[in-house]
Amino acid sequence: MKQIYTAYVNEDQAIWTYLFERQEKLLVDKASNEYLNCLKRLEPVLNKHKIPNFEQLNEYLYKANGWVIEVVEGLIEPNEFFNLLSQKRFPASTWLRDKAHLDYLQEPDMFHDIFGHIPLLMNTPFSQYVFEYAQLAKCHTHNEMILKQMQRLYWFTIEFGVIKELGQTRIYGAGILSSIEESKFIFSEKAHIYPFHLDDFIMKEYRIDILQENYYQINSFTDLWEHLKEYERLYLNHVVAPTP
Ligand SMILES: [Fe+2]
Repeated sequence: MKQIYTAYVNEDQAIWTYLFERQEKLLVDKASNEYLNCLKRLEPVLNKHKIPNFEQLNEYLYKANGWVIEVVEGLIEPNEFFNLLSQKRFPASTWLRDKAHLDYLQEPDMFHDIFGHIPLLMNTPFSQYVFEYAQLAKCHTHNEMILKQMQRLYWFTIEFGVIKELGQTRIYGAGILSSIEESKFIFSEKAHIYPFHLDDFIMKEYRIDILQENYYQINSFTDLWEHLKEYERLYLNHVVAPTP
């Protein structure tokens, strides 16, 4: 599938500009500096002025860490999802929310996928974590229990992760970065931010239909590799993969 750029109408462009501008302003002192640096590096091809052209964006992404965007219609099966990530192809939608649903969506749209997920793929340690995570996850999609655990790991890092930078909590998870409500909520008294310990969330169900109550904070993006190795050591060592 390809992005059909000519299919976007003026209203789509206006919605993109509105969302980008609003979120960019809000995140100045809330998002991870690493994320903001990556966004700056992508500015020529990812900005408030127009919906990004994926081919142009891919040139920047590929040059930085070998990633490209893979256009998908919507949510995809775990097998396909992990397979794509393990080939450094990041799945993204090309449809954009409409005016009536600017603040809440049940399924990820292009603003979530591109504004939320794509910039940090320019950061080498983070992009390496996504790649290594996918290598591991794709070997275990046959095991429902492990699949769920790995989805929780994805959820509390790539989607809803926070990082400590210069003593302050900053956002790096795409689910927060792309949501006006969640990027404010996380700094409210109702949000609980804990040091990152796998045991605290790996066995528990999470809710996808509400703002998260608990977030787990890392200290650097290289920590993510350590947590992945720790997960493999503590939770997967006893699992024997079936012979193909
Ligand atoms: Fe996402």
